[in-house]
Amino acid sequence: MPDPLVKLEGVSKAFGDRELFKNVDLEVSMGEIVTIVGPSGVGKTTLLRAIAGMTDVEGQVTIGGQPAQHNGVTNGNHRLCLVTQHANLWDHLSALDNVALVRRLLHDEPRRTARRAAMRYMEALEVGGVARQYPHSLSGGEQQRVSLARGFAAETPLLLLDEVSSNVDFRRRRMIADALLDIAKSGRSIVLVTHDLETAQLLRGRTLRLTPDGLDDLSEVDTRVTS
Ligand SMILES: Nc1ncnc2c1ncn2[C@@H]1O[C@H](COP(=O)(O)OP(=O)(O)OP(=O)(O)O)[C@@H](O)[C@H]1O
Ligand SMILES: [Mg+2]
Repeated sequence: MPDPLVKLEGVSKAFGDRELFKNVDLEVSMGEIVTIVGPSGVGKTTLLRAIAGMTDVEGQVTIGGQPAQHNGVTNGNHRLCLVTQHANLWDHLSALDNVALVRRLLHDEPRRTARRAAMRYMEALEVGGVARQYPHSLSGGEQQRVSLARGFAAETPLLLLDEVSSNVDFRRRRMIADALLDIAKSGRSIVLVTHDLETAQLLRGRTLRLTPDGLDDLSEVDTRVTS
């Protein structure tokens, strides 16, 4: 068995005196999709930030065998991409250039090649038609899908996704789920945080529930529900 891409051992997080979660253990293999669910405020976004090395925690977080943080700064570099819960697009760039910029930065592609690659990802998420618009003129759902296309375009070994399928209709959830399954097939790993159990079921991967005492595996429960 190759080493897992992501490994969390005994991870705990507190903000001041307030303990959020403790004893979180998690291993994610290459090409695996793991979905994490849990009530609002339990710490799902914080856990994704911990995996990305963007917040300090007790315990060990490693990506590809390297600590996720080095001297208090994320050590993820080009190995991971976090798509945040709010789209966080760059307002001064068109939707297309929001996506193309990561191709230029991470893959060193010239402008025209970067835009072509960006357009492919945008079309796959049905936002090719709004590529020339600026973020302020996009609907919330369009912004969310442009942000997701930007994450896909990064083509990092690890993709961390925070609520990227909320506020979308069932057909588009299926479209997003299919795109995620394709990414996993190419050997990349995905950790998806969501309230959306429909997408979790479409992905057919491991589903875990975050609680203050750690992660519970819900996969057996899911199997019973769907069989
Ligand atoms: N930097 C911070 N300082 C203090 N408290 C924080 C900080 N970041 C998050 N929190 C608190 O930690 C708790 C968990 O936040 P988090 O965003 O991880 O929840 P969540 O599970 O993602 O919720 P939701 O489903 O609503 O997105 C919240 O009560 C939040 O207010
Ligand atoms: Mg959140």
